[in-house]
Amino acid sequence: MCGIVGYIGKVNAASVLIGGLKRLEYRGYDSAGIALLDGDRVTVSKASGKVANLSERAHSNWSPELFQKATIGIAHTRWATHGPPTEVNAHPHLDGSGGIALVHNGIIENYRSLRARLEAKGDVFLSETDTEVLAHLIGDCDKGDLFQAVCDALHQVVGTFGIAVISSREPDRIITARRGSPIVIGVGDGETIIASDASAIVAHTQRVIYLDDNDIAIVTADAVDIRDLDNVPVTREIAELEQDAAATEKGGFDHFMLKEIHEQPDSLANAIRGRLDLQLGSSVLAGMGSSQRELAELSRVVMVGCGTSLHAAMVGQYAFEDLADIHAGVQQAAEFRYRNPILGSRDFVIAISQSGETADTLAAVKEAKQKGAFVMSLVNVVGSTIARETGRGVYLHAGPEISVASTKAFTCQVSVLLMMALRLGRGRRYSRDEGLKLAREIQSIPSLVQQVIDKGEMIAEIAAKYLDNEHAFFIGRGPMYPVALEGALKLKEISYIHAEGYHAAELKHGPIALLQEGTPVIAVACEGPAKDKTLGNVEECRARGARILGIVTEGDHEAEDVMDDFISVPRAHPLVATIPAVVALQIFSYHVARLRGCEIDQPRNLAKSVTVE
Ligand code: M6R
Repeated sequence: MCGIVGYIGKVNAASVLIGGLKRLEYRGYDSAGIALLDGDRVTVSKASGKVANLSERAHSNWSPELFQKATIGIAHTRWATHGPPTEVNAHPHLDGSGGIALVHNGIIENYRSLRARLEAKGDVFLSETDTEVLAHLIGDCDKGDLFQAVCDALHQVVGTFGIAVISSREPDRIITARRGSPIVIGVGDGETIIASDASAIVAHTQRVIYLDDNDIAIVTADAVDIRDLDNVPVTREIAELEQDAAATEKGGFDHFMLKEIHEQPDSLANAIRGRLDLQLGSSVLAGMGSSQRELAELSRVVMVGCGTSLHAAMVGQYAFEDLADIHAGVQQAAEFRYRNPILGSRDFVIAISQSGETADTLAAVKEAKQKGAFVMSLVNVVGSTIARETGRGVYLHAGPEISVASTKAFTCQVSVLLMMALRLGRGRRYSRDEGLKLAREIQSIPSLVQQVIDKGEMIAEIAAKYLDNEHAFFIGRGPMYPVALEGALKLKEISYIHAEGYHAAELKHGPIALLQEGTPVIAVACEGPAKDKTLGNVEECRARGARILGIVTEGDHEAEDVMDDFISVPRAHPLVATIPAVVALQIFSYHVARLRGCEIDQPRNLAKSVTVE
């Protein structure tokens, strides 16, 4: 969603800010803006659309001298919430005097009442945004100390924020603060960079400070002074970033999505490495704690997540029940806290999130902690809010995922869930022999995935036959049901083909009415207990004229024979097979979208991490 960059230091701020915004483009946005301090005034450039438009606009608005001399500024990419993605609604927003500029991620929930109060005092607003209200509020509170003004304003705000503020009256500092929306501060040599995401910082420094909720910092070129909103100093450690700048570049691929699909053998190897115990037939996941006895006392697993992470949780549900004989449930994170879930200390709540910033998943974590559950996270982004909020968890080690469409995060999530289920299972009824067999299969996942990636060209040829349909159905049973849901999500989000995933048995309860001659049905029918029944459902679709693409197990001629087209994936344990199966669907969706000329990495209306409810 929205992205923030701020810079104060020794080089020209505009280049650092525009470079930082480009690195945040993957998050999804629809307008952008930048504010620089030019002597004793604030100057702003904004543009709707891409950062490239902003860059062009800034170069035509500002003289080359200003570009060279301004060494402090803030910038933003906006994903519209309050008001359309127009130039006037883009950030930075100014206060009533024009001397204070603000960029903001999050939502000011009480902005209407604040705006009415300020309007009654004579303030005039130019935009429809909640952010401009906060900018005016800071201006209203400013009695000569910007830090205090921001504290006073934030005390009046209900909602979430990650902000950066500059003032022409205090040109040596940026004030930044967070509540519910991340802020990372990069500590360089004579320069400091603020961002909502470490990707914008990594090219400048590896040393970062993550702000906690309700932290506010006075940032200068040489120092970071962090307090709470009541002006009490707090200490935050400097952490080392693990990523390097190259990880956030395309590396010769046409799209980040394709690069990330191809990275999966490596990212899976990283997710699995050192985590299997091939003596005990179990797994070693430090983040789950070291006590088998503590784990044995758990009576239920509840997984929460959204989107792709929710689909991974659904595969995990089969794994926990099958391998660990433990009740396992999945809840959409947005629904979780509002339905007042019944939870206790024997419930094991796993929050699953690639970004670690999804607002609904974060809220679910807070609710589960409140109710005394044993909460941990399964997150990719190190140091993210959900990882820090849970305090206990397992990182995916998938590396940065830039494409909005999640690929490697899903396969790593499923792999780690399988290892977690294996560990729980070994503390229950799962035998050493069974454990060893599964552990070896998990170890082979990177090579299974590589075998599917090697079929890329053949999958592209099949994809070319499915370009012209506006609707598609994905079906599966058992653990292949969430794979079907994930396949449909991939296709719809990047190709804009309306695709729905269904349990194969559910078709007859309504959706089959939509089948016509040539309607694509993608059936995930790999070998496993439910395969024959899925093939039966495929026959029902064929009888109504559907065109069937099957994801089948290599050598399964019975399945091949009922499909119009098929992609075969290596034989594996039915839970493990979810991973190569989904990779086949990722590649299929990628090529459909590519051949339809879609943008792929930044689909319309979508954001990489959804930080609002
Ligand atoms: O970062 P998260 O895993 O919490 O994100 C959840 C969803 O927004 C995300 O999985 C989304 O559905 C994918 N980008 C779809 O490919």
